[in-house]
Amino acid sequence: MEASIKDDLRKLKDSKREIMRFMMGYKFALDEINTKINILQQEFQFVHDYNPIENVSSRVKSPESIMKKATKKGIELSRSDVKKTIKDIAGIRITCSFETDIYRLSTMLQNQADLKVLDVKDYIKNPKPNGYRSLHLLLVVPVFMSDRVEEVCVEVQIRTIAMDFWASLEHKIYYKYNKEVPVDIIRELKESAESAAQLDRKMEKIQLRMNKLKDQIGDDEDLSEILIDKERFRLPTNFTLNRMT
Ligand code: GTP
Ligand code: MG
Repeated sequence: MEASIKDDLRKLKDSKREIMRFMMGYKFALDEINTKINILQQEFQFVHDYNPIENVSSRVKSPESIMKKATKKGIELSRSDVKKTIKDIAGIRITCSFETDIYRLSTMLQNQADLKVLDVKDYIKNPKPNGYRSLHLLLVVPVFMSDRVEEVCVEVQIRTIAMDFWASLEHKIYYKYNKEVPVDIIRELKESAESAAQLDRKMEKIQLRMNKLKDQIGDDEDLSEILIDKERFRLPTNFTLNRMT
């Protein structure tokens, strides 16, 4: 017997819910890691009076691009195979001020007891042949749902502003260009990556020198001012010290 439109609609609705449930795990994993980064950032700012993070952005891959990648990798489209094979469904990109901040942040994340480190790719110490530099971490975070705990993988890319600048433009230049790229363009892009790396080293040296100067001057801040400085430690607006009744 031919299925009714009502049955078709129900099936469609069920499939949509299944996909949404699958995607939700990745969204929650991003929420977890974003909270961790936020805590590290606020606490680091408070303790060291310095913010090593310039920007954080995150995204969940769309079901369409998950399918595209799965097809490219030649894997089955079952949820478990996709989960096992595609590790960047949830992705976070962090831009740091200096190269040392990248490793500092990476160590702080890797030391968190509830996170498992699946992989570390250091394209800063070993840049890709095209010049690409960044530190990539694959972290597995437990997500506590109503009836189960799911282990979800998140790809964290940590880079400096200069590395990010290069990677964004390189991506833009190549995007949707399927033909072979001329060798002189490849060479020039690689040279640009080296210039970006040089800039990073130079900025880091300047920062080191400035820190030394600051240390020589010493910290003559008034403690009472630190305590009332709302810019340094801003409590959330809904935070109250009232006891619960
Ligand atoms: P994917 O299958 O693309 O995930 O590659 P992979 O599993 O070998 O991972 P890898 O860590 O090398 O790269 C993952 C991500 O890093 C990519 O999706 C990009 O966001 C970024 N990336 C890696 N190489 C380059 C590059 O040459 N240029 C740019 N712009 N980004 C890159
Ligand atoms: Mg990827």
